[in-house]
Amino acid sequence: MKVAVLGFGVVGQGVYEMLRTCPLFEAGPVLVRPGKADAPFKVDDIEKIVNDESVDAVAEVMGGVDVAYAYGVKALKAGKHFVTSNKALVSAKGVELDALAREKGVGFLFSAACGGAVPFLHNLELARQSDDIEALGGILNGTTNYMLDRMQSEGLGYEEALSEAQALGYAEADPTADVTGLDALRKIMLGCAVAYDRLPVEGLYNEGIDSLTAADVAHFQGKGLTCRLLAKGGLAEGKLYAYVQPALLPADAPECAVKKNFNMAKYLGKNSGQIVLMGQGAGRYPTASAVIRDLECIRFGQREMLHELCEYSKAENDGCLCTYYVRMPKACVAEFELAESEAQGGAVYAITKPISVKAMHEKVRALRKGGMPIFFAEI
Ligand SMILES: NC(=O)c1ccc[n+]([C@@H]2O[C@H](COP(=O)([O-])OP(=O)(O)OC[C@H]3O[C@@H](n4cnc5c(N)ncnc54)[C@H](OP(=O)(O)O)[C@@H]3O)[C@@H](O)[C@H]2O)c1
Repeated sequence: MKVAVLGFGVVGQGVYEMLRTCPLFEAGPVLVRPGKADAPFKVDDIEKIVNDESVDAVAEVMGGVDVAYAYGVKALKAGKHFVTSNKALVSAKGVELDALAREKGVGFLFSAACGGAVPFLHNLELARQSDDIEALGGILNGTTNYMLDRMQSEGLGYEEALSEAQALGYAEADPTADVTGLDALRKIMLGCAVAYDRLPVEGLYNEGIDSLTAADVAHFQGKGLTCRLLAKGGLAEGKLYAYVQPALLPADAPECAVKKNFNMAKYLGKNSGQIVLMGQGAGRYPTASAVIRDLECIRFGQREMLHELCEYSKAENDGCLCTYYVRMPKACVAEFELAESEAQGGAVYAITKPISVKAMHEKVRALRKGGMPIFFAEI
């Protein structure tokens, strides 16, 4: 199978190298930006790839939505299999790409977009065929897990932990999507699409770790609690929920054993019970290995990861009740129904009574608009 690669960055270079060295594949042309085709294997015009009849499959590892979508459509219309590591693309345009791939009888797989090397979507897709998936999620962002691990184990501040993650190539140059939980949210959206044929695009909530301070970490550690960023999706009384938020966990929780940039993806099957998968969720070769895995699945005949019935949908997070640990200024205390609270260094640390995910995220959003610095985490 001859594979063209779109994008020659962190993941693209890994994919190209793996294609060159794996006897099952032939490395095709690599698309770079106009004027940057400085080697014989590089091209700077997508038409040279889609019009090349010797190319069987296209691996998109550029990122972004609009151009990646336009190129994906061109590749599929030209009858080429299409694989991608781009969660922004699949969470926005997955249903259209899947329909086109189906119409053309070619493959559209995207397991590298969720969990990096961890074969989460493949297992979920397999499991849903014979079991009811009751819930899914876990630690799906390696950058924030690395930062949390370093803040907790070495006492680093937020900025210091972020700089380290960037220097190691875990965080993007613009790390906003990682630290705000948007990256993990996109991954749980893909998980829901695979498990439930519903790709939620409305009613979603994501809280990241960008409000967490070294003082918060020290406070929570003093209570024996460890912070992890968790993505959650599932069905509750037939309603789809999907959200991302930090959680404070006791030391014996399995998530606390997930260190550095590792991911821990889980699903709960009605019959299988809890299944847990762990591995590197980001980085050149872990992600490239997942792209190659998708191509290998296409070689073996797999054509889809989404099912034909999959459609865009809405998440309903008002039925999900959580108790939260909140750090806030004294002026905010009256805004929450609290079970307990404690003043420390000018702030208040408090535990709320149960409140829905939707109500909590919207309340904090409104208070922050008024300039209130708040961190909150499920407990
Ligand atoms: N890095 C990871 O660990 C990881 C893990 C899982 C998934 N992913 C996903 O994989 C994708 C690629 O990530 P990455 O880390 O490899 O990004 P990257 O290092 O920024 O590489 C992207 C490459 O694509 C090129 N590119 C962008 N638009 C292009 C266009 N229109 N035509 C030609 N080339 C174009 C970029 O060129 P310029 O440099 O000139 O912009 C860059 O060389 C993203 O969707 C990301 O979310 C990454």
